[in-house]
Amino acid sequence: MKVLLAVGGGIAAYKSAELVRLLMQQGHQVQVVMTRAAEEFVRPLTFAALTGRKVLTNLFAIESAIEHIAVAQEHELLVIAPATADLMAKLAHGLADDFLTTLYLAFTGPVLLAPAMNVNMWQHPATQANLATLVKRGHTIVEPGSGYLACGMSGPGRLADPEIIAAAIERAAHPRRDLEGETVLITAGPTQEPLDPVRYISNRSSGKMGYALADAAAARGARVMLISGPVHLAPPRGVEVVGVRTAAEMRDQVMQHLPGADIVIKAAAVADFHLSKVPDHKVKKTAARISLELDPTPDILAELGRKKGDFLLVGFAAETQNLQQEARRKLESKNCDMVVGNLVGASDLGFESDENEVVLTLRTGETIALPRASKRAIADRIFDEVLNLRLALHAANGR
Ligand code: C5P
Repeated sequence: MKVLLAVGGGIAAYKSAELVRLLMQQGHQVQVVMTRAAEEFVRPLTFAALTGRKVLTNLFAIESAIEHIAVAQEHELLVIAPATADLMAKLAHGLADDFLTTLYLAFTGPVLLAPAMNVNMWQHPATQANLATLVKRGHTIVEPGSGYLACGMSGPGRLADPEIIAAAIERAAHPRRDLEGETVLITAGPTQEPLDPVRYISNRSSGKMGYALADAAAARGARVMLISGPVHLAPPRGVEVVGVRTAAEMRDQVMQHLPGADIVIKAAAVADFHLSKVPDHKVKKTAARISLELDPTPDILAELGRKKGDFLLVGFAAETQNLQQEARRKLESKNCDMVVGNLVGASDLGFESDENEVVLTLRTGETIALPRASKRAIADRIFDEVLNLRLALHAANGR
């Protein structure tokens, strides 16, 4: 594929050199465009040497006044990595004062952005509003990772790993539409169970796995309903999101949206217990010790398992030990077709992380280990195996 890689002016610009190397390895033809600010961080020569092509930089130093139009027409995909806060703002508003921003307006193909910036800049309402505009416009966002940032702060804002960006480019280059015509119902995130009007019980689920599944299903052509507990994630493109708070609300929304679903994936970390009678007023700090009497929440997955119509049912099992036995037990007791098991607590994987490593336990008796990868890549592998499993179950029923 003929890829335009635009490098914005951020410290992460040096990582784009590694991205170029990966794209060249994958057999793409890469033309690098740099903003003036990017040149302050990396020399164009680095990219010219890696791609064997002259790097495009300044609008007015270019041979022809319409070169941005010609370049836009010749290429199939525009990747912007790192996309700085300034670039995102310019693109969102259609400003065009240099080669890249004029090229962007002239380009009609798919656009992929990998933002990178300081955590406060990323979380600023102005950046988030620009992000929402770019998502709405149909661009693919490779979310920044969380971790230690060059500015010394920690949090989301780090450029996604070059491997993750390269994988997103591969998906854009070879879109699979094998879920076209299917309706996929996904739950994601934690639930919050109120203790009084200001307090609640919840858990560490970030919702990232469920959102990655929703994004993967939509990219493969499915109609996707995402029933989400409270999370801090942008809704994936082309996905209908219904926000809920408690397990009871999640249950009601799942049952309401169930008719017509072909695949149901329960990635949410639903609270197992709640206070059934929540006090109307804030509980005062009067006693030295208080105890809470908690009742079980509705087990949505088990209820779906009992219903079990035509849809394929996938549950999740987050365990701190005996993963495989627990996953198999859940598969049987909740009548699922697949249980995605991940070990949590013992490592940096699972909750809150951008990566995961899971074991799929299948109704056929098989288990499939998926090695460590980004949650988005794991999501695609889960759908690959869901489709394989459905074929296997149909074949077994037909016998
Ligand atoms: O039994 P456990 O809670 O570990 O099972 C996890 C699976 O069950 C997940 O798929 C989760 O979404 C689902 N679940 C549910 N309703 C609950 C508790 C868990 O659907 N009340």
